Amino acid sequence: MYITSHLSIKVFVGALTLAAVGVFFSSWRNESCREASNHAMLQCPVGFFILPNMTSCHAWLTCTDIFDSITATNLLLGQGAVKLVYLGKWRDKEVALSYLMDDSMFEDFQHNVQMLRQLTPRPSASHKWLVQLVGWCFQQDPPVLITEFHPMGTADNVHKMLHEQFTDNNTLSVRFKLCLDFVRTLEILHNQNTGSRVLCDSNDPQKALSQFLLSTNFRLTLNDVDALPLVKKTLGQLVKCGHRELTGDYIAPEQLWPFEDIPYDDTAMPGYDEKIDIWKIPDVCNKLIQGCNGAASLKLHLFDVHSKCKSLSPSERPTAKEVLESYLTVMKKLNLGNKC
Ligand SMILES: Nc1ncnc2c1ncn2[C@@H]1O[C@H](COP(=O)(O)OP(=O)(O)OP(=O)(O)O)[C@@H](O)[C@H]1O
Ligand SMILES: *[C@@H]1O[C@H](CO)[C@@H](O)[C@H](O)[C@H]1NC(C)=O
Ligand SMILES: *[C@@H]1O[C@H](CO)[C@@H](O)[C@H](O)[C@H]1NC(C)=O
Repeated sequence: MYITSHLSIKVFVGALTLAAVGVFFSSWRNESCREASNHAMLQCPVGFFILPNMTSCHAWLTCTDIFDSITATNLLLGQGAVKLVYLGKWRDKEVALSYLMDDSMFEDFQHNVQMLRQLTPRPSASHKWLVQLVGWCFQQDPPVLITEFHPMGTADNVHKMLHEQFTDNNTLSVRFKLCLDFVRTLEILHNQNTGSRVLCDSNDPQKALSQFLLSTNFRLTLNDVDALPLVKKTLGQLVKCGHRELTGDYIAPEQLWPFEDIPYDDTAMPGYDEKIDIWKIPDVCNKLIQGCNGAASLKLHLFDVHSKCKSLSPSERPTAKEVLESYLTVMKKLNLGNKC
């Protein structure tokens, strides 16, 4: 969702939804499922998914499958401007059920599903960088999207998780690896066959991190793909993140309205490319490592690459791949294993 302002949340929508979906819960099928501990490493072909403890890939669920075999719980996982998200069950597995909040948001909702179908995982990726699509149904009222459930929630919670629940894992190494994941995700988005996808919904570091889920092995998984417009360099096609004036220190300078004396006019606002994402990397990474022993020293080692990311001229900023290479060099050089 481009607009960060909150829409009025109609809580009763959730109740109606539960009534509608819950009734059709079919009996648990007791699959003989052995522990598939390497599920996190397994990749299914396009059109299939695999959840923890499943031994093989299953085809994306259709409307009929959803009607027959998905049940909703009343546990609200979260809500944004587009989706109302409940914990659900498919067979004995937990899944996230995202319901369209408001008909006016259907385009974003549909774009999200389209992106989850289109942005397929790379076979070489060492972890699932994109949340797994389990199924969707647009014909149902309200339309629903089903994805893999991530019990640790969104990545903007990472400090709380590491400080309070997983103190053993609260190291600079775990946190800096999240910086690497953020940059890896940009590298993948920026190098699609069709062009470069821009992570628009990221006007401040907190918002940027809230687009990701934190997996149980402390990796980032991109979740919210409502707003990934396409830059086509060869055709000179640029993007704009929404149709409103953007302000603040965190967004890239080329995203600011350039004509001080004239009121904002979206049609006169110039477009920009994926380098707006590069501008945001230092702030996101600093947020991830802040408050940890050794963060100041790590920041010194990142000073050069972070300064380049903040070049006023977009073309002078490094690519995501170049930032990733610098990060890997720093990672190898430093011992980041001590507790924060
Ligand atoms: N697969 C999941 N596992 C666990 N929690 C989830 C999952 N998907 C969504 N959530 C929770 O639901 C919240 C809303 O989801 P999401 O960000 O996709 O909604 P949105 O309406 O698109 O948000 P936005 O306003 O940022 O566009 C998330 O912040 C997260 O807390
Ligand atoms: C997988 O199965 C094991 C053994 O039955 C169980 O302890 C574990 O909670 C299951 N994990 C999930 C995510 O369902
Ligand atoms: C988290 O900490 C536990 C306990 O020390 C350890 O076994 C596990 O490997 C750690 N996980 C990560 C991703 O570092």
